[in-house]
Amino acid sequence: LRTPYRTLSGTSRLAGVMGWPVSHSKSPRLHGYWLAKYGIDGCYMPLPVEPDNFQGALKSLRNLGFSGVNVTIPQKEMAMPECDELSDRARRIGAVNTVTFAKDGRMLGDNTDGFGFIENLRQEAPNIDFASGPAVVLGAGGASRAVLIALLDEGSPEIRITNRTRKRAEDLATEINDPRINVVNWPLDPASLADAALVVNTTSLGMVGQPKLEIDLEGLPQTALVTDIVYAPLITDLLAQAKKRGNQVVDGLGMLLHQARPGFHRWFGIDPEVTPELREFVLSPD
Ligand code: ATR
Repeated sequence: LRTPYRTLSGTSRLAGVMGWPVSHSKSPRLHGYWLAKYGIDGCYMPLPVEPDNFQGALKSLRNLGFSGVNVTIPQKEMAMPECDELSDRARRIGAVNTVTFAKDGRMLGDNTDGFGFIENLRQEAPNIDFASGPAVVLGAGGASRAVLIALLDEGSPEIRITNRTRKRAEDLATEINDPRINVVNWPLDPASLADAALVVNTTSLGMVGQPKLEIDLEGLPQTALVTDIVYAPLITDLLAQAKKRGNQVVDGLGMLLHQARPGFHRWFGIDPEVTPELREFVLSPD
């Protein structure tokens, strides 16, 4: 008997995304696409877990034989102390978004946000040279932290960070403790953009339902690349303004897709491809 439905077997590999809420997550659709594309006997499911139940749920998933899980808001920080081993980047970012359950039962924590950020830019702008000039980073939250560390690792000569709450940017700079990070004014002075090679928005401004990001790109060199981690809408006002001036722009959807690759690779054995068709599939209604 042949069934038109994909069914699981006793050896299917299991993974998922834990969060509260998790219904908005695009990860099940994304991983589901790759599982079908590569014909993998596996399953990736949404796992709504209340923060109070987080520790128990993580251990249970391991005991149930899961290969691993992604962890999303508000549990990224909660996952850190639960892990037996942390990747260098997870430790430095201070949050875990990818947990792998090793055969011996140990929990390995990783953070792939910075990887996703860099890989997206590399794929969309293959000639990008992170060492070619200063980067300007808007925002000082968790996403900013991952972006700052990734840019430093890529050899950025200087990073100017600006945030509505200046103290938060200063604290972040102090904590990362790299002389290449400088805190600059919010809103940005034109001088901060004058020789920039890269502008990154890591704030939630410009996202559907959020206030607009007020920024004047006047004076930004035409050679600078502008990117946004917001991907709803795909073309934010920031990207539209940059595009109009002739700057190359990269939207934020690719960061979400690329950050999922290391987990998929570890759990299902294939480093999956980010393609235009995948972008369309993830954006299309279920
Ligand atoms: P994430 O982990 O996604 O980075 P976050 O830690 O909540 O989320 O950080 C949100 C970022 O967006 C912060 O830089 C925040 O600025 P503050 O530190 O001043 O709060 C920024 N942000 C959010 N709403 C904002 C607004 N209305 N104006 C300016 N910045 C805003």
